[in-house]
Amino acid sequence: MSKRVIYKCQECGAIHSTLFGKCPQCGTWGTVIEVASDSTPVENAPTKKLTPPTLLSKVVAAENERIPTGLKDFDCVLGGGATLSSAILLGGEPGVGKSTLLIQTAALINKKVLYVTGEESASQVKSRADRLKLSVDKITILCTNSLDSVLLAVNSEHPTLLIVDSIQTIFCAEAGNIPGTVSQLKFCAAALIDWVKIHKSVLIMVAHATKEGAIAGPNTLMHMVDTVLSFEKNVSDTRFLHVQKNRFGPVDVLGIFSMGSGGLAPVTNVESLFLGERKANQPSGVCVGCVVDANRAFLVELQALVTESKAAVSRVYSEKIDSNRVSRVAAILEVRIGLKFQPFDIYANVAGGVKLTESGIDCALALALYSARVNIALPGDIVVIGELTLSGEVRLVPKIEQRVKTARAMGFKKILCAAKLKDVIFVDNIKDLIKAAFL
Ligand code: TYD
Ligand code: MG
Repeated sequence: MSKRVIYKCQECGAIHSTLFGKCPQCGTWGTVIEVASDSTPVENAPTKKLTPPTLLSKVVAAENERIPTGLKDFDCVLGGGATLSSAILLGGEPGVGKSTLLIQTAALINKKVLYVTGEESASQVKSRADRLKLSVDKITILCTNSLDSVLLAVNSEHPTLLIVDSIQTIFCAEAGNIPGTVSQLKFCAAALIDWVKIHKSVLIMVAHATKEGAIAGPNTLMHMVDTVLSFEKNVSDTRFLHVQKNRFGPVDVLGIFSMGSGGLAPVTNVESLFLGERKANQPSGVCVGCVVDANRAFLVELQALVTESKAAVSRVYSEKIDSNRVSRVAAILEVRIGLKFQPFDIYANVAGGVKLTESGIDCALALALYSARVNIALPGDIVVIGELTLSGEVRLVPKIEQRVKTARAMGFKKILCAAKLKDVIFVDNIKDLIKAAFL
């Protein structure tokens, strides 16, 4: 009977039959260690329990029970409250407000909560809760980095909501000697997910995100959980909660909060969040468009300024809208209606400082540029929605009805787009667009 030894990389989890100084899979040095020596011969292995398949039509579809979190937008993002026996991963950059969101949820959920923190002290968490005037009667706190301590605590406390802030700080010696590795992360997350599935609880794990927005560590963590949410900073105090994956609800939902001295609060007048105050007489170079993020539509004010170029070559200065898009729309105006942008510099901006990336702003951008170039202001009650093709055609963009409805609800009378809808001015090319806007 031969003794079987296996070696595992603590960084990427790859299994090897020999010991390597450098893992051939991920290239990291010094992470391959002996993890198991199995002397049980295969022929003596215990018989596996085999599961027969079932006709899907015979399966009773059972909806798991949901519990409201106490925060309306958090509930919407989760698909109507937190589903029992589910695991949620909450990603976001440091300082975005993950711990704030979770302490507010812990206090408002009105269930037994175990709040595990590997990053802050109990007194830090308590002083935040006090500052936010939260009732903490049902919250038990555990400051630890040890998975064993967490498992001990959940087995004695039986919380309905288990919060782990963050999963990257939890460690178990069984998963290798190096904290923070991918296999540690997977091992600890799997143990906690198993616990909530068996005990019909909810697990919310914080996972740090990189600057680019990706959840640090392996994507495998995203496969293991039911729901992946990302908390992002938008303009000033606004925070967006996006759904990246949800086994218990739609992904096309966006939660919006504002971060203030009282913590995270719901936002009213979402549609005009980025519009700010508008005067009756707008200057030239200003045009309102409408953008969509998940299930929400927002009105945005695009601004353009055209000045004589001081350099030999004209330039486009634009931070909030991709300068390639600005150049392209200016080129369409030049070629399709003969409006020259030489020798001028173009400045483009968005009121409120929001970044715009969707093509639905093309038409509004074209009108802002046109208005700036000819120095004639647009009427104040116009909203323009649509993409522009290089040939100068106005294209429809997704969720046009929702955008039109939002513009109308905000009191805009003249809505220009390529949809044949009631009370909407239909435009299908750049010439019509300019004619209809200044009529
Ligand atoms: P925090 O929840 O600690 O962020 P994360 O856990 O994602 O790192 O929030 C950090 C920021 O939020 C911090 O810069 C202070 C700010 N903040 C407020 O503006 N108001 C508040 O009521 C709280 C609690 C935090
Ligand atoms: Mg935190």
